[in-house]
Amino acid sequence: MAEPLRVGVAGLGTVGSSVAAMLLRTRDAIAMRAGRPIDLVAYASKDPPRDATLDLSKARKVADPIALARDPGIDVFVELMGGSGDPAKSSVEAALAAGRPVVTANKALLAHHGATLARLAEANKTTLSFEAAVAGGIPIIKTLREGLGGSRISRIYGILNGTCNYILTRMHKEHMSFDACLKEAQKLGYAEADPTFDIGGFDTAHKIAILTSVAFGTEVDADAVHVEGIESITLADLEAADELGYRVKLLGVAQRTEAGIEQRVHPTMVPKGNVIAEVEGVLNAVAVDADTMGLTLMGPGAGGAATSSAVVADIMDLAAGRRVSSFGRPAASLTKAPRAPMQRHEGGYYIRLAAVDRPGTAATIARRMADANISLESIMQRGRDRKPHGGEDPRSADKPAPVALITYATTEDAMRRALAAIEKDGVVAEKPQVIRIEKG
Ligand code: HSE
Repeated sequence: MAEPLRVGVAGLGTVGSSVAAMLLRTRDAIAMRAGRPIDLVAYASKDPPRDATLDLSKARKVADPIALARDPGIDVFVELMGGSGDPAKSSVEAALAAGRPVVTANKALLAHHGATLARLAEANKTTLSFEAAVAGGIPIIKTLREGLGGSRISRIYGILNGTCNYILTRMHKEHMSFDACLKEAQKLGYAEADPTFDIGGFDTAHKIAILTSVAFGTEVDADAVHVEGIESITLADLEAADELGYRVKLLGVAQRTEAGIEQRVHPTMVPKGNVIAEVEGVLNAVAVDADTMGLTLMGPGAGGAATSSAVVADIMDLAAGRRVSSFGRPAASLTKAPRAPMQRHEGGYYIRLAAVDRPGTAATIARRMADANISLESIMQRGRDRKPHGGEDPRSADKPAPVALITYATTEDAMRRALAAIEKDGVVAEKPQVIRIEKG
């Protein structure tokens, strides 16, 4: 059997510890499949390994990740520290500059510097692999880059953040508050160190920016992603969605349109029956529409075991001599994504209004929608609060009445114009809630 592939791992947190454990535990099986053994020969970690039972007696501890990246005693540098800045960035650059292949799970680094790093890799005749950076254990990069290599992709969309999906699922099923669900997700270890990264949609934005590049051959451009988080979603929205035949999911969507490539992250109403609508808890799912077929992959998007499976698969490709360009084509051929303005987005909308309960309100709302050429698919209005045994609760007399609308396909611009006019008319007591609808 050929000489072992010598691996150096930087970062022994949840993912790094799992990768090290997997390499040790499955060495023989990996050797058989990859055609040569893979040995963890060196590591750099500022903290003790997250997994205290890890036997690192056969590996050298190197003082810092940049020294490890330059170490001639390793064949592959595995970066599992995270973060778009240093030491992750400079150590990846150092490894690539030395002609050493890099495997990383670092979505922030790829989202901000993906095209530059891919060019650096090519200039030094080496590779940059990042299967684990998007949707954890789901092999979506390989699917896009290789499995669908001959297909023309028109849209890719999915649930790319387990924390948000966990929160939305728990809120709906257990009638729990947003804050209580977030606390649980943090306790279970799904959330990022700063959970605003998850709930604000930024983690999903990094992931959809990377998928856009692989799917459409464009430079990764995280700044081009329209981002809205799930902070404004209420139990009332989740319940109205259910009654209207939808589930609310935080989706990342990348789509070719006549106006360019749309990249967007926002809470989305997905019709029940679409596979994505039924994906619950911490799971991720990615759907791809191509000229050849449509497909959906679902699986764990976070956690040590799932993420290390993707990292180890990338290392095995290197061991077996399977080398493909980072984004599935020469880095020099990646183009600037023609950015589609959000105002030109076309689709259906769910709109929840706190309507002032007086004669003429419904007529005003309907007229403003008609003025903007928006056709309504359904309207759901609740009366003001009722007493448990019938009759109106006098305490609710001044309260607005919730109205939920579903529109047929329209443009973002028309919908915003109609809502601005409705607010100006003074027939709503709060800022309207808007959730875009994504058809399967
Ligand atoms: N915080 C991320 C999530 C971890 O919740 O999905 C995986 O990127």
